[in-house]
Amino acid sequence: MGTLGLGVVGCGTISKTYLKRLPGFDVLRLVAVADVRDGVAEKQAAEHGIPRWYDSTEALLADPDVDLVLNLTPPLMHAEVALAALRAGKHVYNEKPLAATLEQGRQLVAGFRRPPESSAAVEDHGDPGKPDAPGPQPVRRGGGLAEHGG
Ligand SMILES: NC(=O)c1ccc[n+]([C@@H]2O[C@H](COP(=O)([O-])OP(=O)(O)OC[C@H]3O[C@@H](n4cnc5c(N)ncnc54)[C@H](O)[C@@H]3O)[C@@H](O)[C@H]2O)c1
Repeated sequence: MGTLGLGVVGCGTISKTYLKRLPGFDVLRLVAVADVRDGVAEKQAAEHGIPRWYDSTEALLADPDVDLVLNLTPPLMHAEVALAALRAGKHVYNEKPLAATLEQGRQLVAGFRRPPESSAAVEDHGDPGKPDAPGPQPVRRGGGLAEHGG
């Protein structure tokens, strides 16, 4: 089976749980992390042996090895980051909530409906802190919004 190159946007509290568990997923290759706060992405990259780190979402989205973006930014940024990733032709795995306002949510769903042919988006409803949580799943191909977790 091929692997998806994963780029993590947002290196805050919950990223530590994700970064600890991600090596257990054979379908994912953790290639880069990004955060707008000084030194945060660099530190996470060093701690977890991640090849590249960036100080902006845009820089991570320009990395051709990133196929899938794991959006771990605060809720206010979810829609903006997810839409930018879709427009860059990446798959998106979005932390809950989907967006912070109804209008942002509508814009994001409209974006999901017009992704590039091969991209797709997933909104997380699981709990990465629980050992039996579903965790990241392979994304659906061909565009559209998929959900998992409970
Ligand atoms: N903390 C938890 O236990 C927990 C649990 C489940 C889900 N979540 C969800 O995960 C998401 C992140 O939560 P957190 O607690 O890690 O938040 P956090 O505030 O600790 O971390 C968010 C990080 O995103 C970075 N960031 C903000 N805007 C950015 C941008 N445009 N580009 C790149 N980086 C950016 C911030 O600098 C920060 O380091 C939230 O949506 C939250 O609801 C958190």
